[in-house]
Amino acid sequence: MPSDDNRDPLFRYDDPIFVDEDMLKISHIPQPDRIVGRDEQMQKVVRALNPAIMGSEPTNLLIFGKTGTGKSLISRAVTERMQAEAERNDTTVESVFIDCGEHTTEVSVVKQIASALNKPISGVSVPKSGISQSDYYERLWRILNTCCDVAVIILDEIDMLADDEVLRKLSRAGENKHVSTPIGIIGVSNKIDYPDELSERVQSSFNRDELVFPAYDADQLIEILEHRRDAFKEGVLDDGAIPLTAALAAQDHGDARKAIDILRNAGRIARDEESTTVTEEHVRAAQSKTEADRFDELVNGAPLQAKLIILTLARLHRESEQNEFVTETIYKTYRQLAEQIDVEPRSERRVQEILQEQDFLNVIQSDRRGRGRGKGVASYHRLLEDVNIVEHVLNRDGRLRELVDTE
Ligand SMILES: Nc1ncnc2c1ncn2[C@@H]1O[C@H](COP(=O)(O)OP(=O)(O)OP(=O)(O)O)[C@@H](O)[C@H]1O
Ligand SMILES: [Mg+2]
Repeated sequence: MPSDDNRDPLFRYDDPIFVDEDMLKISHIPQPDRIVGRDEQMQKVVRALNPAIMGSEPTNLLIFGKTGTGKSLISRAVTERMQAEAERNDTTVESVFIDCGEHTTEVSVVKQIASALNKPISGVSVPKSGISQSDYYERLWRILNTCCDVAVIILDEIDMLADDEVLRKLSRAGENKHVSTPIGIIGVSNKIDYPDELSERVQSSFNRDELVFPAYDADQLIEILEHRRDAFKEGVLDDGAIPLTAALAAQDHGDARKAIDILRNAGRIARDEESTTVTEEHVRAAQSKTEADRFDELVNGAPLQAKLIILTLARLHRESEQNEFVTETIYKTYRQLAEQIDVEPRSERRVQEILQEQDFLNVIQSDRRGRGRGKGVASYHRLLEDVNIVEHVLNRDGRLRELVDTE
């Protein structure tokens, strides 16, 4: 740090709100005694991984639960402790954490695992490109055979994988004599019906235990947040700030990710306002910002047609008392909006498909049910996010601005 008279006064070195803002990062792993209400789940993960510390094959696991229920945290935390314990037992257990949302293809996952586990002793390299998928597998087998006694592979957000081939090949690697090193796989997903999506071949080869993480209640969220209070300077948090954050984050389902995001944003908003305390008002402002950020993340990268359909739902919602609409109604308004901004409208069938995709991504919710006596069945769609937030976020896309502004 430069000495006092050497500093550019444009910048500041003192943070009036935070001592250690990084404690409120989602990737931060709290100390074991700060992990709340997950003893049972930790025990089960430990039981599955326990054989690894003796050099034997762990039990594979699939972990499910809604967003922010501690799945990634617990898989990471337990794996780290298992590695340390194995070391005390002179066993080399290596683990790798793959975010399948980032690595969605088979080749990308294999490459990532291989380069994370590789050590000079393997005698092979893992180039970024230029070799085939089967070459990557060959090198991965070699790496597994030479670099560790046991490997634990965490596939986080496993439902984002384009297909489950990598799961099949990894779970058969021993049986097919590619690898003598035991491999344990932990798959993590927030889709409770993920196992139904697995192909039959994987269903039969991928033996595993399954584990469900329940949502937190408001008291548990308070405790989780209290354990991060020292991210803030002493006395900065108003008494009501943590309870209100927990209550807001428990509204939909008890979501620790949301709770931590809201608290961090509340601190940032307070800092931007040059306030010396974080108040309930800051927390409320942070809630809107957090929800908008999340929705933004969900729809930001979506193609224009999908955004236009989401906007259609917002428009219909504004123009009527209802919040649910059948595909036909959506299609009619969608065509009008598309023409208004000179975008070629897609067919009704394609629009139905896009609606299904957005349902899968949790941007909207779709339901197929009867339309009333003798009128057959139809698909009903509704937005899951507040219409103001939807419009606010879509307004960031210049191509749609004209439609949002016409209100
Ligand atoms: N029991 C807990 N005790 C302390 N902190 C927790 C607990 N559960 C979750 N957290 C914190 O909440 C945040 C979200 O948790 P995590 O990322 O593990 O959720 P997740 O279930 O993987 O959610 P998603 O499905 O959205 O990926 C992280 O910062 C994590 O440290
Ligand atoms: Mg996660």
